[in-house]
Formats: sequence, C-alpha cells, structure tokens
Amino acid sequence: MTDGPASVAQRARAVMPGGVNSGQRSVPGLEDLVVASTAGATFTDLDGRVYTDYHAAFGPPLLGHADPDVARAVSAALARTDLMGVGVTAAEVELAEQLVELVPSIEQVLLTSTGSEATFHALRLARAVTGRRYVVKFQGCYHGWHDAVSLNVISAPERLGDKDPISAGILPDAIEATIVAEFNDVAGIRRLFAERADEIAAVILEPIPHNIGCVLPDPEFLTALREVCTSAGSVLVFDEVITGFRHALGGYQSICGVTPDLTTLGKAMGNGLPIAAIGGRADLMSQFSSKPGSPAFFAGTYNGHPAMVAGALATIAKLRSEPVHEHVFRLGDRVRSGVAEICADVGVPAVATGFGSVFITYFMPGPAPRAYRDLLANDSALFTGYRSRLREHGIFELPLNLKRSHISYAHTDADIDRLLEATQAAIADTLAHRGELTAGASTMGGVR
Ligand SMILES: Cc1ncc(COP(=O)(O)O)c(C=O)c1O
Repeated sequence: MTDGPASVAQRARAVMPGGVNSGQRSVPGLEDLVVASTAGATFTDLDGRVYTDYHAAFGPPLLGHADPDVARAVSAALARTDLMGVGVTAAEVELAEQLVELVPSIEQVLLTSTGSEATFHALRLARAVTGRRYVVKFQGCYHGWHDAVSLNVISAPERLGDKDPISAGILPDAIEATIVAEFNDVAGIRRLFAERADEIAAVILEPIPHNIGCVLPDPEFLTALREVCTSAGSVLVFDEVITGFRHALGGYQSICGVTPDLTTLGKAMGNGLPIAAIGGRADLMSQFSSKPGSPAFFAGTYNGHPAMVAGALATIAKLRSEPVHEHVFRLGDRVRSGVAEICADVGVPAVATGFGSVFITYFMPGPAPRAYRDLLANDSALFTGYRSRLREHGIFELPLNLKRSHISYAHTDADIDRLLEATQAAIADTLAHRGELTAGASTMGGVR
C-alpha cells in the first residue's frame, strides 16, 4: 500500500527541515500538500484531487505544465548529449544568438541555472567594472537569495525605511553596501544620485515588481533611472526573471522602451526548467572570466546544460510561432475586469490589477499601488482567506499575502469562466465568515 499525503508529508518533515525544499513553499494550511503530477493548466495531489493551477510554480510554465514540445526536446537532447564541462555546444550558441536577437539590451549573454545566480553575477560584474561599493535596490523587489539583495522585500510596516534582511547570517558589510530606495520615487532617486553618484556601482530592479503582485512603473521613473545611471557611470540592471518571456519575447524592456545595461532572465525562458541568463552590453559582459584574462570570475557546473538549453530553445520556438502572448494577455484582461466587477457587486474595496498573464486582487481602496508602502492597506486576511477557499472549487492560487497568480497558454476561456465563478463564491463565503479569519500578512524580512 502506498503512503497517503499526511504520511509522506510527515516523512518529509523528519528528513527535510520544514518538509519542503524552499522557504517559499512553506505555506500555512498546506503542510500536507503532496503533489503527484502536473499537466497543462492543472496539478494533481496525492489524493487524486485535480486543481486548475494559477500559482504556476511562481511563474515559469508560461506554456503550461509539462509542455509536450518542451518535454520532447529535453528527452531528445538527453539521449544525445549530457554535460561535458568543456567547450560549447551548437545549441548553446543558437540560444545565445536568439537572446541577442530578441532582447534589446543583450549584445552578449551567459547562461546560469537559476535567477539568483544571474543577479549575483550582474552585481559582482557591476562592482568589478566600476570599482564602486554600493548597489541600489527597491523596497518590494526580490532578486534571489544571495546576500547583496536579501533585504527589504515584503517588510513588516515597522521595518519600512530601515534595512530589513530576509535572513540571518549575512555579513553586516553586505547589508550596509545595499541602499534601499522607494519604487517610482523619481525625486528620491535623483536626490540619492546627486549625493552619492560616484559610490553607486549598480541599480537593480524588477521593471514591474511582481514579487509584491503588480506595481506598475511610471514611465518617467524608468527613464529617470536610465538618465542617472548613464550620467553617473552606474550599471542599470533590469531583473527580468519574471517579466522576461512572460510579457514579451524581448522582455518588459521591449515594451517600455528603456534599455538597461544588463538584464537577467530565468523562469519562463525554459518553461520551468532550471535555466537562466545574464546578458547586456558587450563591453561589460566581456569582463567575465569566460573570456581569458577578464577579471570577473564566472563559472557553474550546470551552466548551458544541453537538456535545459534544448528546453529553452523549444520554449522560445513556440513563443515565436504560436499566439501565446495574445492568448494569455486576453485571458488576463478577462480575469481583471471580471474580478473588479465581482468586488464592486459585493461592495468590497478592491484593486484588480496585473499585467498580461499576471493577475492579483488587492483588497484595498484604489488607486492602483505605486510602491510597496501602498500595499500595507491590503486586507491580507481576506486576501489569503478567499484564496484558501478557492481550493474548495478545484482552483489553486497561492494563499500567501501579495503573491501574484499566472495564466498559461494551457488555460482556456472555460477555465477563466470557472475561475470567476469560484472567485465570486470564495469572496462571498470569506466575507460571510469574516470573524473566523486569521491575520494573513506574511512577511519576507524581519530578521534582526
Ligand atoms: C525577479 C526575480 N529575480 C530573481 C529571482 C531568483 O530566481 P531563482 O529562484 O531562479 O534563483 C526570482 C525568483 O523568484 C525573481 O522573482
């Protein structure tokens, strides 16, 4: 007899801290969730319950889970070549050529396995080429788990304005060397550069901060960042790990028209496979030690793994040849307008927002948020409460405060009809049982 989910989860907790392989998978109420399989727009748990999945593993499977074209490309590649750890493969060259062709800022590119590695290398490179100490990040943006950026993501209100590390064990020097600024604050960023321009190696941002749902950038803000970085000789890094490929083949930079110096990519690039990239200006990229004699050390056993590269090529081929973006953008618009209507009908203040395939509903009065600070008004108990109730309707959105949801090419109009019906019922039920709600404001931060 096979183990049931509670037993598997218990075994997991005995041998894995918390029973999951990421702090971000530790979700109240989901302690016994064991995933058995994924396919298209769904996943199935060990009890055989099927959910339409809008969490989508924090965003990679833009084509849907286990896309058959990607899976075929991966297994064909694996049958032919695994890792060699020397030289290059023709497929790596082809992928690099496509990234150079598609993403405006990318003149040269290198592959990594994860987004964190890509942002790590971007900041190390920026310090190497400028000889400067400080990097600027924005409150609410997440760029991975490494020390330079492990602070000020989803901060508790009392930590706003302070350094707010998300982990213990970071050297105080690393925290000191990161300046935290407010997103969309043009005057603030100009002031900072007026005072400290020659100390700033890099400015890194998610061009749309999706790690707090969806805060849209003012065009003037992105333009101002470009201006101050150019005039100070600081490196502007767009972290497009979420926005890259998901919003456009050329990333959000191809939509907003602002070109950074360096770009990091990941997630949707391989539709869920561990592959990521850092690319940008050739004069910067050529400082990586993949070029003999260059000073910024760059390595990684799994970089450019043939199976992952084949998966990324298959993903990009499908994004280029099929109306993926048109489909997911249209369904995203349906969700946003449908949920706004539902909330207006029940009289609950809400901002149903997002961009393209990404959607999120904040339970707060408008206008749409412009910075993390505005999101402190979100009713987090209602946010996590209704998302938990969606599971009763066979729908999965992550019940963690401020987390976004994603639509894939595998979702259909019928899925969206069901999502809207379920959302209406889940919000109504949650409001009817308001007294039973527990505070739902999770944080990413707060370590002293
Ligand atoms: C914008 C952004 N950058 C970087 C990362 C880190 O990527 P990874 O988890 O692949 O290391 C993430 C992960 O969620 C992200 O959302």
